[in-house]
Amino acid sequence: MTATISLPDTVMEWPAKYNEIPKAVFEEPSLWRLELENIFYGEEWHPIAHRAEIPNPGDYKAAFIGEMPIFAVHGDDGKIRVFHNACAHRGATLVTDSAGNKADFECPYHRWLFSREGSLVGCPNSHEFSPSFSKEKFGLKELRTESFSELYFVTMSDKTPDLRTYMTEAVADPLGRVLGNGHGLKLLGYQKVYYDCNWKAYVDNDGYHAPLLHLAFKLLGWQGGHGEQIITQNGHIAFDSELSIPKKIDALQDSSIVQFLGDPDSKGSIVVSTFPITVFTKHMDMLNIRYAFPKGPRGVEVHYAYFARDDDSPELLAHRTRQCSNLLGPSGLISLEDAAIFTRIDLGNRSPGNAIFQKGVVDEYRLDLKVKQNDESGNLPRWEHYRKRMGFRRASA
Ligand code: FES
Ligand SMILES: [Fe+2]
Repeated sequence: MTATISLPDTVMEWPAKYNEIPKAVFEEPSLWRLELENIFYGEEWHPIAHRAEIPNPGDYKAAFIGEMPIFAVHGDDGKIRVFHNACAHRGATLVTDSAGNKADFECPYHRWLFSREGSLVGCPNSHEFSPSFSKEKFGLKELRTESFSELYFVTMSDKTPDLRTYMTEAVADPLGRVLGNGHGLKLLGYQKVYYDCNWKAYVDNDGYHAPLLHLAFKLLGWQGGHGEQIITQNGHIAFDSELSIPKKIDALQDSSIVQFLGDPDSKGSIVVSTFPITVFTKHMDMLNIRYAFPKGPRGVEVHYAYFARDDDSPELLAHRTRQCSNLLGPSGLISLEDAAIFTRIDLGNRSPGNAIFQKGVVDEYRLDLKVKQNDESGNLPRWEHYRKRMGFRRASA
């Protein structure tokens, strides 16, 4: 689709230096429509639901791609399908809850009824419909869907490469380990939070800030060990790091909350951030997917979904639940301060000029795909992917 929106020059003209990002990119509201067309409805895959979130026939989960409502359903045939959340008649949304279980999906407006597989199975007064009407033509519209490790992704474009190619092998390995490393998963629950910032301020988070912003890293005496940051040209980032935690932590009366109880391979920390906006983490024994839904140019709703392995002992299950509730999410010890910073970035970026990246930048005029573990320069290839998707010119040096 061709964008016909006129944009301010500050945003159209990207700085010649790769480590500078125009602040206006967080603040200019007219960008949102272009981001919908070029990114959210473009050639990107968006994870919607893990099978563990909808494990039984009839289970469904509602979500959004950009502004478009969709829902994933577990069919009677065991298949998970993702549909537009819109009745095939005049378009009313079919589900309004964020998740649930239904025998079938009835639209309240004129009572058209759809099966768990998306077929139209009933419609009152159909003998008075147009001569060409047939139920077969009015099933729910299914989105292009592919899965990885039982996590279902959708894309709005036929041109998007297959999921595995899009994800790249470099990301598939750490992501597979977050998603249980071949073990089945079980959903523990969700925490949902609204961050008062542009969606890009939320997702532009980096490894540089963690031990500096988050007080708990000091209080808990966490030491990042050996690790690496892997970045791809299409905007994905993966961190894979050792993490060591002291046996005794003076700041906590009961330090069992920060113990490793999982498999030996579960030690350490993995963070995978796939373009445009999803973050997957495995910190200690927490397995987490952060689905994120921008609410227009300002505001982003983040749903933290927490998982356990389905073969976990009751003790490990309780431990994972306790860690998830206390360490991650909106009130988590190691992420508590993020909400305030996202809003402060958004507010501060109303001032003119560019946001500047420094840590890890070797040559300001060259994009480097080789970065160290906690370099903020790892975010720059993602910004470059964003710039290209949006069609913004880069100024010449
Ligand atoms: S809009 Fe759904 S039945 Fe008419
Ligand atoms: Fe953080």
